[in-house]
Parts: sequence; C-alpha cells; structure tokens
Amino acid sequence: MESLTKVYKPGQYPAVNQLCVAVQPGECFGLLGMNGAGKTTTFKMLTGNTSITSGNAYIAGHSIKTDIDNARQSIGYCPQFDALDSHLTGYEHLEFYARLRGIPEKHVRKVAVWGIRKLGLLAHGHRCAGTYSGGNKRKLSTAIALVGNPSVVFLDEPTTGMDPKARRFLWNCIIDIVKEGRSVILTSHSMEECEALCTRLAIMVNGQFRCLGSIQHLKNKYGHGYTLTLRVTNSLTAMEEVRRFMENTFGSAASLQEQHLNQMEYQLAPSLSLAMVFQELERARQMLSIEDYSVSQTTLDQVFISFAKIDRKS
Ligand SMILES: Nc1ncnc2c1ncn2[C@@H]1O[C@H](COP(=O)(O)OP(=O)(O)OP(=O)(O)O)[C@@H](O)[C@H]1O
Ligand SMILES: [Mg+2]
Repeated sequence: MESLTKVYKPGQYPAVNQLCVAVQPGECFGLLGMNGAGKTTTFKMLTGNTSITSGNAYIAGHSIKTDIDNARQSIGYCPQFDALDSHLTGYEHLEFYARLRGIPEKHVRKVAVWGIRKLGLLAHGHRCAGTYSGGNKRKLSTAIALVGNPSVVFLDEPTTGMDPKARRFLWNCIIDIVKEGRSVILTSHSMEECEALCTRLAIMVNGQFRCLGSIQHLKNKYGHGYTLTLRVTNSLTAMEEVRRFMENTFGSAASLQEQHLNQMEYQLAPSLSLAMVFQELERARQMLSIEDYSVSQTTLDQVFISFAKIDRKS
C-alpha cells in the first residue's frame, strides 16, 4: 500500500488515511481497530470493491488502480458480511466460484469437495446456504476465499460467530496457507486470535495506523510493566483490606485498574522488582484472604485499549 486513502464524502474525515505497508509472502498480517476505524474500507479498496480516493496498492506486482483484473487473479476475499446465495448449496457455491476463477471443468468438483472438507462443512455441503447457522456461513465464505489457491487472502473478521472448535480449525487452515508461502491479511477483534496467527499487526485509529510491528514489539513499546491479578474472598471488607495493603506496600508503583466481583487488577510499574512483589504477597496472603494471584505480561488487549482511548469518536 502506498498512501492508500479513502474519503467517502468530500469534506468528511478520511475513512482511511494514507496507509503505507508491505506484506511479504508467507506472512499473516493483522489489522486491528475499533468499530469504524476503517478496516473494511481498506479491504474494499484493495479488492476493487470501492474506488480509491488517492494513493495506490499493488497485489503481486499489479496496481489495483490500473490493473485490477490481473490483481484480482491473486486475491481471495472473505467479506465481513457473508455474500452468499441462500438458494445455492455449499458445494454449488464453491463450484460456481471455481468456474469464475477459471479452474478447468474437470477439476471443479474436486475443488468444491476440497473446500467443504477444508472448512469442516461435510455435514452441511448439500444444504442450501440460507439454512446455515452464522458460524457455518462464515466457514463457507472463508472456503470461497481459498478457492484457486490465491497468493493473497483477505479475511475480514473470519471467525466472528464461530464456536471455539471451529475457530481453532480455521486458525490451522490459516497457518497452513502462511506455511505454503502465501499471504494472509485479516481483521479481528480477538486479541487471542491475533496472538495465535499474526506475524505482524497494525492498530488502526481513525483511518490511520497508530502502531505497527510484531506482537512482542507492540507489548514492549506500549505495554508498560506487568499486570497483577488478585482473587480475593468475596467480601467488601476483604477487598478493602487488600486495597489498603497494596497502597501501603507499593504506593504509586501499583495502580488499581479494574475491580470485578472478587477480582482486582493492578498495573505494576516497570521499576518494581517482581521478586519483591512475590515476597510481599506471599507474606500477606493468609492474613488478607487472597485466594490466588498471578503476575503477567501486559496483554495485547491492554495495548489495544490504550490506543482506543485516542479515537476521535469515543
Ligand atoms: N459506504 C459508506 N459511505 C459512507 N461512509 C462509510 C461507508 N462505509 C463506511 N463508512 C464510514 O467509514 C468509516 C470506516 O468504516 P469501516 O466499515 O471501514 O470500519 P471497520 O474498521 O471495518 O469497522 P468494524 O470493526 O465495525 O467492521 C466509518 O466511519 C464508516 O461510518
Ligand atoms: Mg469492518
């Protein structure tokens, strides 16, 4: 992408604002951002579904502005909202797209069977897509994106609505694609998913990239220190005692971030020694009715939330 920009209505803020990035073969690139950040608009431009206001992008060397037909040969796209025909079965969808992709007639059926198998839809292949559950529709849309082994696959929230087993199944499919040396660009609201799949990711705010890098890079750069999670006996006095203990022992180096039911979450300053934290908590544990506690590295969720705070609309 070269300064890729989209303005829907003149005078409005750009929905996508000067994006620049290159995604390598064999890479899974994650696009994160709050609702309305511009992720789907970016995909629509890259797949030729909406015009580009300025800038350009190249898919396998083909400009999407001047050579979209050739660029499309290398693209597989799973849109955010399933574009399925409710009267066609799973097999019929895949056969239809296989023909559109120019797969020779004698291989069309084989490709459809491969797609149905690959996404675990064997029990539903002969049913009309209109009768599919939400998660199965997503699976079929993803299978369609994979028809013809395109070298660049765009997946817009592919696992939304999928149960955990189906999600893991799709993750393995994505990992296979990447291993084959193809590129996957996906959007997701699941940090767990991005951690499992993405080699690099970008967090988008108001149409712009606010940070870009490997997950570890983002955590190191934007996640400060560690998170301490305490589970306390569920009583207000016990929690108040823990709160007082934390304040007296660590002062401003530990700040209370969230408190839910019997769980308290503290952000620990990088200056605090972990050995000291464990020592003090072990000592106070019995006295304070702390059920258990854990210290963890800042999660991607926390990095994301800190970026969401600068969103124009929130
Ligand atoms: N067809 C359209 N006409 C005018 N504005 C649009 C259109 N489509 C999207 N927008 C605006 O562009 C911005 C980006 O929307 P987009 O759908 O790309 O966000 P997104 O990051 O995909 O969000 P979500 O996580 O909810 O899918 C939003 O402010 C949205 O209102
Ligand atoms: Mg979207």
